[in-house]
Order: sequence, then C-alpha cells, then structure tokens
Amino acid sequence: MEEQKKKILCVGLVCLDIISVVDKYPEEDTDSRCLSQRWQRGGNASNSCTVLSLLGAPSAFMGSLSAGPVADFIMADFSRCAVDVSALVWQTEGQTPSACCVVCPTSGSRTVVLYDTDLPDVTAEDFSKVDLHQFKWIHWEGRNAEEQVKMIQRVVAFNAALPRQQQRITVSVEIEKTREPLYELFPHGDVVFVSKDVARHFGFLSAGAALQGLRGRLKPGAVLVCAWAEKGADALGPDGSVVHSDAFPPETLVDTLGAGDTFNSAVIYTLSNGGSLQDALTFGCRVAGRKCGFQGYDGIGENFGNSLKTKE
Ligand code: ADP
Ligand code: FRU
Repeated sequence: MEEQKKKILCVGLVCLDIISVVDKYPEEDTDSRCLSQRWQRGGNASNSCTVLSLLGAPSAFMGSLSAGPVADFIMADFSRCAVDVSALVWQTEGQTPSACCVVCPTSGSRTVVLYDTDLPDVTAEDFSKVDLHQFKWIHWEGRNAEEQVKMIQRVVAFNAALPRQQQRITVSVEIEKTREPLYELFPHGDVVFVSKDVARHFGFLSAGAALQGLRGRLKPGAVLVCAWAEKGADALGPDGSVVHSDAFPPETLVDTLGAGDTFNSAVIYTLSNGGSLQDALTFGCRVAGRKCGFQGYDGIGENFGNSLKTKE
C-alpha cells in the first residue's frame, strides 16, 4: 500500500457524551435550565479519530461497543466523519459507555461523569486479527495497559520483520488518567503523551518539570509530550532537546471538552507527515486552541482541513 494512503489507528474509548452547556456551573441538589443540550460521539480515541479525519488524514478506530440505540448513534457519526470502524469489537455483555458532560463557557470548564466499567475493553487477542499493513501510526489511549502492552509488542515484532524501515508503524500512547497500571505504558511509545493531571500526580508543577522528571521512564529515542491547557505544551525530542508552544486562546472560550484529544491528533498528524516536533507542538496548540472557540469538532474541518464529507 502506498505510504500516503496508510491510516492512523486510534485504540481506546468510544462513548456517548450527553452535553449540557450551562451559563453557570450548577449547585449540587438544584434543578436548573441549561443553555443547550446535545448528543455527541465521545471518548479520547474516538475524538482523536474525528479530528484526524477533519484534518484530512485517513483514520480508523478500535474499541468496544454493545449493540443498541446508543451504538447506532455512534456508528452513524463514525460514518459521517469517515472513520474506518472495521476493527471495532461488538461485545455481547455490558452497555455502551456514556458520559454526562457539563460545559461552561464562562469559566472554560468541562466536567465529565463517565460510566465505562461494565463493557470489556478490546484485548490483544482482538488486536491479533487486525491487518497491520494498512497503518502508518497506531495510537493507544491508556486503558487496559497490560493488554495494550501486548498489542504494542505485536507491532514491534511486525516492524522488526519489515524489509524497509520507512514502512514502520509508529506507536504513540496517551497516559491521561492517574491510574498506577497505566504508567507501565511509558517505555512502550515512540511518542508518549502525558497529561497535566498525571504530571501533577507525580509532583510536577509545569510541563517542563514533568518532561525532565519523567524522561527516565521512556525508551531511548522516544518523544515525550505534555500539554498544559492555557499554558500551551512542551515536548522532549529524541536527542533530549525541549521545545515549547504557547497556547492559542480563541477570542471567546466556548468548549474545552476534548481539547486534549484534539491536541494529540494534530501533533500525530504533523509528525506522521514528517513535520518537526516544534511544528507538531505549534500545530497541536493552534488546532486545540481554535477548537476551544466553538462547540464540538466540526469547525476544525472548516479552519484547518478538508471539510467534512457528509454522507446523506
Ligand atoms: P485536556 O484537559 O482536554 O486533556 P489540556 O487542558 O491539556 O487538555 O489542553 C490541551 C491543549 O489544548 C493545550 O495544550 C492547549 O493548546 C489547548 N487548550 C486547552 N485549554 C485551553 C484554553 N483555555 N485556552 C487555549 N488553549 C487551550
Ligand atoms: C474528552 C472525553 C469525552 C469523554 C471523556 C471520557 O476528552 O473523551 O468525550 O466523555 O473524555 O473521559
């Protein structure tokens, strides 16, 4: 397959986000009206696929769903966004995850309450059935880390057997949640995204401090990226050099839900097209900042990529 046409696969969560936009974050045990409400396909890996597609990069999603009306909604939206779902796994037990999300433009906050614990995650066995030749990059949202490490080991073996190095699949991992088992993913990414939450959990008060403090956990030659909301993002290159991008705040803050997923995919987009780490970080902050200026993701296509090809 032509390198250009190869897809970026994101492995992780897809869920339904039921989003209420409020003018003020509600008090507990009150009953209030919100400004607007919508259903949106969510989950970090799923959002990253959306953004990749909007930027014009062929993307594929791998994660779990359980058949029913929520899954129907999600599948229709994957199709609308031209995300390849052939690696998706239909579980026979459990329900499709869903999240109540409160988006507050006045403060810029997004508060999420997610239920995703009764649907099994995809396993290394599921992953063993995926044809790896179609991908140039695979991104894992850290979830069931033990299984995910096995999946990555399959990619490492696949890469080692390739006749030409440029056909290699790049592996990225996102360590976003402060859960001990996820930290075993650090040495398995060519590119590792670590969140502000995780950085803080380790006692680091800035992205720069986090890069220096966590670099020992990476494999040699890996890249570490740490985004820090309105402070932008820092990254450590394979040669140990550090790059930074300031944030690009929108004129008016509207919706920060999925800003991190947007940032990750814009970074992956740039690096997978051969861009420099500095370019990737700047583009990540630019796209994520712009995304914070409108609801949802569709505006990304208008601003940065191919416009969304709606299937009527
Ligand atoms: P999340 O909490 O969604 O995982 P982050 O808060 O780490 O994501 O933000 C990711 C990127 O999104 C940041 O590096 C920044 O570029 C952009 N971003 C997030 N919040 C803002 C904001 N309030 N203003 C401008 N840019 C933002
Ligand atoms: C945004 C998001 C939402 C989802 C939540 C899950 O980053 O993926 O779409 O509800 O995070 O943690």
